[in-house]
Amino acid sequence: MGDSLTRKIIRSHMVAGSMQPGEDVFVKVDQTLTHDINAVMTYLGFEQLGIPTQVKTSVSYLDHNLLYIDFKTPDDHNYLRTIAEKTGVYVSRPGNGICHMVQTSRFAVPGELLMGGDSHTPSGGAVGMLSIGVGGMDITTAMAGVPMRLTMPKVVKVNLTGKLRAGVNAKEVVLEMLRRVTIKGGLGKVFEYVGEGVKTLSVPERLTIANMGAEMGATSSIFPADEVVKEFMEAQDRGDQYKAFLPDPDAEYDEEMTLDMSALEPLIALPHQPDNVVPMRTLKEHPVVEQVFMGSCTNGSYSDFAKAALVMQGRHVSENLQCTAGIASKQIYKQLLKDGYLDMLIDAGVRILELSCGPCCAIGQVPPTNGIAVRTSNRNFRGRAGSPNANVYLVSPETAAATAIKGTFATAEEIMGEEVQRLANIQEPVHYIVDDAMIIPPLPEEERAKVKVLKGPNIAFLPVPEKPEKNLCARISLKAGDNISTDDITPAGAEFSSMRSNIPLMSKYCYHRYDPEFAGRAKELKKSIIIGGENYGQGSSREHAAINPMYLGVKAVIAKSIARIHKGNLINHGVVPMIFEDPADYDRLDQMDELEIDDFIGQIPTREVLVRDVTRDFTFKCRLELSDAQLAVVLAGGQLRYLKQQLVKMGVLKVEALEQ
Ligand code: F3S
Repeated sequence: MGDSLTRKIIRSHMVAGSMQPGEDVFVKVDQTLTHDINAVMTYLGFEQLGIPTQVKTSVSYLDHNLLYIDFKTPDDHNYLRTIAEKTGVYVSRPGNGICHMVQTSRFAVPGELLMGGDSHTPSGGAVGMLSIGVGGMDITTAMAGVPMRLTMPKVVKVNLTGKLRAGVNAKEVVLEMLRRVTIKGGLGKVFEYVGEGVKTLSVPERLTIANMGAEMGATSSIFPADEVVKEFMEAQDRGDQYKAFLPDPDAEYDEEMTLDMSALEPLIALPHQPDNVVPMRTLKEHPVVEQVFMGSCTNGSYSDFAKAALVMQGRHVSENLQCTAGIASKQIYKQLLKDGYLDMLIDAGVRILELSCGPCCAIGQVPPTNGIAVRTSNRNFRGRAGSPNANVYLVSPETAAATAIKGTFATAEEIMGEEVQRLANIQEPVHYIVDDAMIIPPLPEEERAKVKVLKGPNIAFLPVPEKPEKNLCARISLKAGDNISTDDITPAGAEFSSMRSNIPLMSKYCYHRYDPEFAGRAKELKKSIIIGGENYGQGSSREHAAINPMYLGVKAVIAKSIARIHKGNLINHGVVPMIFEDPADYDRLDQMDELEIDDFIGQIPTREVLVRDVTRDFTFKCRLELSDAQLAVVLAGGQLRYLKQQLVKMGVLKVEALEQ
């Protein structure tokens, strides 16, 4: 039997482990990416190692928070730029665009392996590069040249048939996937898209689908590198880096599904989860929409905006509605300008924002109180847009543009009638405007020693956890519900994002929107345990959702299930992730109960831990769903300590480094 794309890439990068789904496999990485609001801790850890990046292509993006509301973010950007210069990392400067679009356009190579410190890293799967979102300390590990641990995923063959109709976007493909698979259904899987339908999708359309595979909890999503990818890379003046990369004709898959794109119609994800998907035509109510945001890494491509512009051409954004555009890169911006689409958008009343993530992570354009917002981005968790009571709906750019014109939910066809067919004529440029002046290449090695790494007062320290305690006695500082997102744990937004390099400051706002008393309570308790429901820690990859609770003394999270990247971050930062053996035990516990775990450090290696609720006088069992490698990290007291031990063994670091 032949291999899928996923298995081919893992096989060719594997240095140890097993390719049996669910088992640990250790791989060598070709590319890493980080971005400004997650990366400072990654580089503070890497800086301690005193070595340059060992990865062929490491890129640091300054793309998320460009508001500079005070000194903090510019301080972060100075640090990230100078540490990159010191360590041989590319820097994509503010204004060049959003990491996933730039990485796919300017760096991605079919058949390579990318690890990114962002959950939407799978976007690179659009060109046949296996691209996986991981935590910040994992990036530190990859950059140190130590093989990365992956849980070998199952591979799901998604057979795409048919062709999208005019007015229906690749967004509908992935919303339909979410409707079928749900936000948990991709756990431990890579979705591999094949079939005749794939040939009809451009690279940016594939990017939209791969990007939002993250919302299914998938390890990644990937497309073949075929003629469409060849044309895209040639249009980027990168044809010499193209190589055809296809699954074997007799490739074996763990699961299969089929999706007929011809049958798709405009879809919408209702608040507050991206899998809450229904057809637009079934909406009973048509309330006044107050905000429309088009763009983000998901739907910020040339075609997305050209189509939105055609929907809006000669019309005007509804009164009392704010419509903004976050174009994904400078390259796309210039092409839209050249081809007249930017004019159409501006004439329609669209406000063009900076080339950054912006509203997608609540950096500007927060909806009004109880506001209704329609967005083309990828997440509509409660609070993600910066307001705890806003209702955010996710749609395609065509639907977003139509909604902005009508002032309530509308499809492109409703606005354009038969003219909607014009949307089918929009194609990606035959040749993009290529100008990498906003990318700083790595300095020659001999010049790196002269670089002075700039650390303003906002750059604090990387807190390093202790090893698990012999006997743990701690109260429950929080009993959280199902689907807690990393946005709930560490709020997004311009103000909070700029605190991410300063854990003592940011930890004061841990769970700020979900339970404003949490941080004070956890700090007072000194050590505590968090209880969670299903899918704890879903969403963004930000490791601060592990670092902040750890800094406040949280020693363990016990939940019904824990999202993949967040579980990795908890392990990396010394918080033991545990799963209820019997989910009914969740209901028997209450906040502030006192829990006791005898011989915690001795029980951990057995992967079964008995916990006694002293307050209610009962004992329950937890499982540790950890591989041998993950157990080693937990027992070492987190990834940085573990990584240093590995580097000492490899002779890269001296034994004294273990004490630093
Ligand atoms: Fe940025 Fe939002 Fe994408 S924060 S990387 S545009 S998911």
